[in-house]
Amino acid sequence: MAKILVTGGLGFIGSHTVVELQNKGFDVVIIDNLSNSSINVLEGITAITKKQPEFEKLDLREKSKVQAFFKKHADIEGIIHFAASKAVGESVGNPLLYYENNINTLVYILQELKGLKSSNFIFSSSCTVYGQADTLPIKESAPIKPAESPYGNTKQIGEEIIKDTCKVNDDLNAISLRYFNPIGAHESVHIGELPIGVPQNLVPFITQTAIGIREQLSVFGDDYPTQDGTCIRDYIHVVDLAKAHVIALERLLSKSNSDNYEVFNLGTGTGSSVLEVIKSFESVSEEKLNYKIANRREGDVIAAYADTEKANNVLGWTSKLSLDDAMRSAWNWQKKLKN
Ligand SMILES: NC(=O)c1ccc[n+]([C@@H]2O[C@H](COP(=O)([O-])OP(=O)(O)OC[C@H]3O[C@@H](n4cnc5c(N)ncnc54)[C@H](O)[C@@H]3O)[C@@H](O)[C@H]2O)c1
Repeated sequence: MAKILVTGGLGFIGSHTVVELQNKGFDVVIIDNLSNSSINVLEGITAITKKQPEFEKLDLREKSKVQAFFKKHADIEGIIHFAASKAVGESVGNPLLYYENNINTLVYILQELKGLKSSNFIFSSSCTVYGQADTLPIKESAPIKPAESPYGNTKQIGEEIIKDTCKVNDDLNAISLRYFNPIGAHESVHIGELPIGVPQNLVPFITQTAIGIREQLSVFGDDYPTQDGTCIRDYIHVVDLAKAHVIALERLLSKSNSDNYEVFNLGTGTGSSVLEVIKSFESVSEEKLNYKIANRREGDVIAAYADTEKANNVLGWTSKLSLDDAMRSAWNWQKKLKN
């Protein structure tokens, strides 16, 4: 089976993707610098798949180390590039960290692809590139809006860099996957999300509040023009998301792609409000969540959910797991972390 490099493979989405790749028989080599993950994740992956992936602790900002890595692993046939910094607020305070970690590393990897047996590349992009879209659900053809943060900008620039490189390199085949809101954990509870510090995302904040790490959840705004006044997002189970990466990779390996640069949305197609997510959590966990309504937060998009037609019909992938499934797994994971 093909050997696949997964950068950031010990992170939240990366670790779930490594599991799905190994389940399908792929040989995986992970690069991670552990800046936002733990080495214990390797054990979690091994417990689920009964196979320990190869792991290199390496910081992708070190260009000479990236070059040496690709010399050593010249038989890599596909790359899934998750490694990046992802905290929107931090990116506003420290933009150069984000441009270095999310852009330089991408360039260093793309520069090494010429030497490979076959260069198939998958990039972690985000629905943040759409900003507040003019029409819902959001199609891949929707205009890219000016980025609200340096983090968002790195995803837009990253996509442009890959597209430009594909134009001059016919041997390079790439797919950008624009994720909506990944949540949940593996049902085995061997792996899940490991937020460092105060969670930036809703679901880990909910589970940490319910378990007693955080006192109270603030719902930012209940006066938006939505059915219950709270913001709407497209929450996608991380295991569904991980499976989409395997399908996208198989598309490239089998040369089924219609262009050497393609873009797909990865979402469920259904928008859920903050209050609906809380309700789902309360129902699957049988816990009452301590939350309050707070003022709107600057920069929040009112509603964003995916048009999944292209992912369904062209990529051949559809999300299967429900919001309740995701909330149940996130809660089981949080309870495991406590122990
Ligand atoms: N989680 C989300 O809500 C979301 C949404 C849209 C897009 N994305 C993108 O998906 C990707 C994965 O996100 P995630 O939630 O799994 O994040 P994560 O932080 O859990 O995983 C990223 C991993 O990359 C590693 N890493 C970071 N910089 C590195 C470097 N210089 N060298 C080597 N390793 C490095 C980290 O240690 C971490 O294990 C990121 O590119 C992120 O921007 C995430």
